[in-house]
Amino acid sequence: MDDLKAKYLGQIAEAADEDALEAIRVAAVGKKGEIALKMRELGKMTPEERKAVGPALNALKDEINAALAAKKAALADAALDERLRTEWLDVTLPARHRRQGTVHPVSQATEELTAIFAELGFSVAEGPRIETDWHNFDALNIPGHHPARAEMDTFYMHRAPGDDRPPHVLRTHTSPVQIRSMELQGAPIRVICPGGVYRADYDQTHTPMFHQVEGLAIDKDISMANLKWVLEEFVKAFFEVDDVELRFRASHFPFTEPSAEVDIRCSWEGGQLKIGEGDDWMEILGSGMVHPKVIAAGGIDPEVYQGFAFGIGIDRLAMLKYGIPDLRAFFDSDLRWLRHYGFAALDIPTLHGGLSR
Ligand code: PHE
Repeated sequence: MDDLKAKYLGQIAEAADEDALEAIRVAAVGKKGEIALKMRELGKMTPEERKAVGPALNALKDEINAALAAKKAALADAALDERLRTEWLDVTLPARHRRQGTVHPVSQATEELTAIFAELGFSVAEGPRIETDWHNFDALNIPGHHPARAEMDTFYMHRAPGDDRPPHVLRTHTSPVQIRSMELQGAPIRVICPGGVYRADYDQTHTPMFHQVEGLAIDKDISMANLKWVLEEFVKAFFEVDDVELRFRASHFPFTEPSAEVDIRCSWEGGQLKIGEGDDWMEILGSGMVHPKVIAAGGIDPEVYQGFAFGIGIDRLAMLKYGIPDLRAFFDSDLRWLRHYGFAALDIPTLHGGLSR
């Protein structure tokens, strides 16, 4: 009996975890354990022997059970201590120094241009990216047969078979927000509408999704001179220089008359994109005096009101300002690229505080 006791209490003391403890329990006091086997031998004993051995076996069984329970509690305590030790956190340590996230150049450029146009009295308006055919085309004086629809490489949404209504489109430009803003606010109005637009096109300066900012100013006495001044002020402020070389080219859009496209002087030498030098021009915007039909489609009387509109490619502005030669990288989500070209999250662009410094 003493040997049994020494053996099991010793094993229990040594047990490293709950599984080991359970194995000892089964071997010692389980239904087919060593104590149970001894109990069975009681039957072969004389009544006197039985009286002495029976209670002693029961006492041994109780003692082993008590030791098992105590050890189990001790193991649980140790496990908790270990967890507390490894999961302990010193909340007084200084915050991690390395910033992980950055602001994407498109977001940065959008913030910068919003600050500039806010100073010029423009507020921000928005519209849906999935647009009605009417807002994206018809209301902008682009009827169904017009070649501009094909030129824009439009993505059309699905319509159920048999549903003959014109399909919705992924807006091909931000110009439909002109219509939505006029419908909502009436005249006079001065808004910019930044956001994503879609066209099936893909090369170094084209991606199927890109960003534009629309500008719209409607009042009783607005002329092409106002348009030119606003664009020049904007471009100077955005590029943070006193002079930028712009080229106004007579052009055509169904929704403006007259129309002008604007290019900016740049160089691609050695794969580096630089603004203000070289012999290349990059087109950054389309603009013009809003067509009377468009003003009428927005619910405003074109006999009383007129104004200008423009659409600027935000991604291209960011490429030029920050010397990023390939537009496709903008949308690759490559963290190394983002860390290199991204901006600190708390450097909010303002005209007085500096746009990009
Ligand atoms: N919507 C035109 C485009 O995407 C740009 C534009 C906007 C032109 C407003 C004139 C006026 O190319």
